[in-house]
Amino acid sequence: MTDDRHETRAAAPGKIILFGEHAVVYGRPAIAVPVFQVHAQATVEPRAGEVTIDAADIARRFDLANAPADDPVATIITRTCARLGVTPRDFAIQIRSTIPVARGLGSGAAVSVAIARALTNFFATEGTEKKELRNSVSPAPSVARLSNEDISELAYQVELLHHGTPSGIDNTVIAYEQPVYFARGQPIESFRVARPFLIAIADTGVAALTKIAVGDVRRAWEADRVRYEALFDQIGAIAQNARAAIERGDIDALGLLMNGNQDLAREIGVSSPEIETLVNAARHAGARGVKLSGAGRGGNVITLIDEGNRAEVERALLAAGAARVIVTRVE
Ligand code: PMV
Repeated sequence: MTDDRHETRAAAPGKIILFGEHAVVYGRPAIAVPVFQVHAQATVEPRAGEVTIDAADIARRFDLANAPADDPVATIITRTCARLGVTPRDFAIQIRSTIPVARGLGSGAAVSVAIARALTNFFATEGTEKKELRNSVSPAPSVARLSNEDISELAYQVELLHHGTPSGIDNTVIAYEQPVYFARGQPIESFRVARPFLIAIADTGVAALTKIAVGDVRRAWEADRVRYEALFDQIGAIAQNARAAIERGDIDALGLLMNGNQDLAREIGVSSPEIETLVNAARHAGARGVKLSGAGRGGNVITLIDEGNRAEVERALLAAGAARVIVTRVE
């Protein structure tokens, strides 16, 4: 271990999918935005010996050497170190997160991104400092800083372990920290938000595993490909129209598109009684658009609000059983 390493810390936001979940797994476009009101944070500090991991929020403390091969935290640490060309030892890592787990807010991807970023900062520091000391006559081999693309790719490898067929939208929006228009295998596109808008994110209180909803949709698609392909086409068209509405600042159109997306999510079988209760409550309170976000079956419902109906909609969502409501501004 060298003496010049010091503690580094990195954070990554949560995320919501505004349009296009599930259909995005089948190549259609989707829109996701970061949610900065919640975040995961990783701190890396020098400590001689084996790597120790402290993830107190999920009541886990363990050594890297003893972690199962498919452990997501261990996987992102070993893969990031391999990518940086360093040996995973002589540091301790602490993980904290305020992102509720299994609610479609991207907690897993955010933890991966925060760890990858904190490790790259930790090791890159050493190279930079040595380079300066040597007066750049013969540059020391410095550890390259990973780009957003590299970090997104590393986080995707972890998503693959547990989700089976992830589209890659979670790791992308969280690594880039900006609204993305995402289609599998296509270059990532950002877009202009002509008029900022507010979204209330209401937790149904039901934890739902992405893998299960995604697996159910796959079985339904296998049983009736024609019908499901047509539904995915409609969802993809909504995402495309929503991007245009956001770019021209047409908030009314955005609300209608959210409602249309919710109808299609229900048809593909990923809504739930708890989701429908919150959807109805928000609509009765005057929300212009409301839909599930993420895998569905539970998780969060997102509602397009404005300063005029914000208090009323928040009250209605909580009265209808929402465990918590977070308001985020998309800009
Ligand atoms: O991780 P979640 O719950 O936000 O769901 C991801 C969205 C899906 O489209 C259902 C799956 C995927 O990989 O894109």
